[in-house]
Order: sequence, then structure tokens, then C-alpha cells
Amino acid sequence: MKTLLDVQNLGKRFEGTQVLNDINIKVTEGEFIAIMGQSGSGKSTLLYNISGMDRPTSGMVLFGGKIISKLDDKKMSEIRLKQMGFIFQHSHLLKNLSIRDNIVFPGFKAGRYPRDKINQMADALMEKTGISNVADHDIKKVSGGQLQRAGICRSLINQPKILFADEPTGALNSSTTKDVMNIINKVNTEGTTVIIVTHDAKVAARADRVVFLMDGTIHDQLKLGKYGGENELSREKRLSGWLEKQGF
Ligand SMILES: Nc1ncnc2c1ncn2[C@@H]1O[C@H](COP(=O)(O)OP(=O)(O)OP(=O)(O)O)[C@@H](O)[C@H]1O
Ligand SMILES: [Mg+2]
Repeated sequence: MKTLLDVQNLGKRFEGTQVLNDINIKVTEGEFIAIMGQSGSGKSTLLYNISGMDRPTSGMVLFGGKIISKLDDKKMSEIRLKQMGFIFQHSHLLKNLSIRDNIVFPGFKAGRYPRDKINQMADALMEKTGISNVADHDIKKVSGGQLQRAGICRSLINQPKILFADEPTGALNSSTTKDVMNIINKVNTEGTTVIIVTHDAKVAARADRVVFLMDGTIHDQLKLGKYGGENELSREKRLSGWLEKQGF
């Protein structure tokens, strides 16, 4: 299996405070990783530093075998736009644009396909995530779950190799969380690598591997294997037993 993301001895310092220290992770193509840890342990900082949204102060990040942690901002944003997808707790869609227009926007910006094709791709993504009925709605006139699904569609419009998510279900109720995670698992099964930061053990139980951060270092990792092959409850139990050992 090919390594997609290779994080080597990564450190991050903010004005005298060492927030991340000597982080090493190799992420295989098609893998689904969950990052857990107490509030303030450095999860979001790690996600930002491995996805090129921020730059590490030591160590390096390779993406598809190329060092990305030292690229200039222009080159890095090009890679982020065309090869990476991002989802956050709140999807930050553009006001005064419909759901569909928000989804196609990064597709038009990347310009890889003609607009007709991008529109078709957006329609297919909305169909897949169950929001076709609100495609032409203003973003103020849809539910939180629909907004988050639109955010997922937008993050996938350029067919990214990897999807980064920071607490994507943090603002959702448990039934909507399940729907969103079913979508993310499906996207992963279809080949997109996924790295998700979450507080929710049920969400992390969807991943192949769970990484536990403590005070800015990797404290431990748990291999769960691909989701779907075993009883969901026993998988969640395995994870919660392990999390207890981490003091979570
Ligand atoms: N831009 C910044 N400048 C200075 N310190 C920062 C900055 N960003 C994060 N930190 C500090 O780094 C530490 C880790 O923050 P981070 O947001 O990565 O934690 P987290 O694990 O994502 O927490 P949470 O679960 O609450 O989201 C915190 O102590 C935070 O105050
Ligand atoms: Mg965070």
C-alpha cells in the first residue's frame, strides 16, 4: 500500500509554547484515521499543519512523496484546492449563494472540467448525500444537517485524494451525525483517504485507526480495521476500553 501522507518529526511552536512535538505518522492511500485527545492537546493544530493550512516549525510533511511543508502559499493553496478537501464544524458556506452555487464554486475555481460537467458532478454529489431537494435554496433556509452535507459536497467537488475534517459532527445531533458519518465512510470506501478530528467515540469508531494525542505528542494508536466488517457495538466497546486506558 502506498503512503499518501508522511509526517516526519513534526513540531509546532507558538510564541514560546511548544504545542506539537515530534509527531510521526504515515497515512496510507485509502486509510481512514481519527485523531482524538483532550481539549487543547493539539488536534486541530496537527490537522492544520499536516494539510498545509499552517506550517510546522520543525520536521516535514510529504504528500504523495513531495515535501509540502516548505512550499510557498500559492503552490500550497493550489494543492489544497485541487487535491485536498476540508470540512469543519460549521461549513462556512458563502451567503447569498444557493446550496448548488456553493458546491460548484471551488470546482469552477479549479477549472479542471467544463462548467457543465462540474454542475453534473454537483448534482450527483447532492443526490448521493440526499440534499437534491434543497439545491436551489438559499443557505439560510436549510437545516444544520443539510448545510453540513452541502459542505461535504463542496469539499468533494474536485475529487480530492484526501479529506480533512475537524469536528465535522460537533454541531449535529446523533441521528444527523450517523447520516454524515455514513457519507464519509462511503466516500472512504470509494477511495478517498480521510483524516478526522473528533471528540465523539462513536465517530472515531468509524475509522481504521485511532491516534490519541496527549500534550502535543502521539500517546498511543489503536488499529480497528475497516468499518463494516464486525458488529458495530463490539467495535465501539473495543475503542471505549482503549480510550479509558488513555484517561479519556
Ligand atoms: N494560533 C495560535 N497561537 C497560539 N497558541 C495556539 C494557537 N492555536 C492553538 N494554540 C494553542 O495550542 C494548543 C492546542 O490547540 P488546538 O486547537 O490544536 O487543540 P485541540 O486539541 O484542537 O482542542 P479542542 O478539542 O478544544 O478543539 C492550545 O493550548 C492552544 O491554546
Ligand atoms: Mg480543535
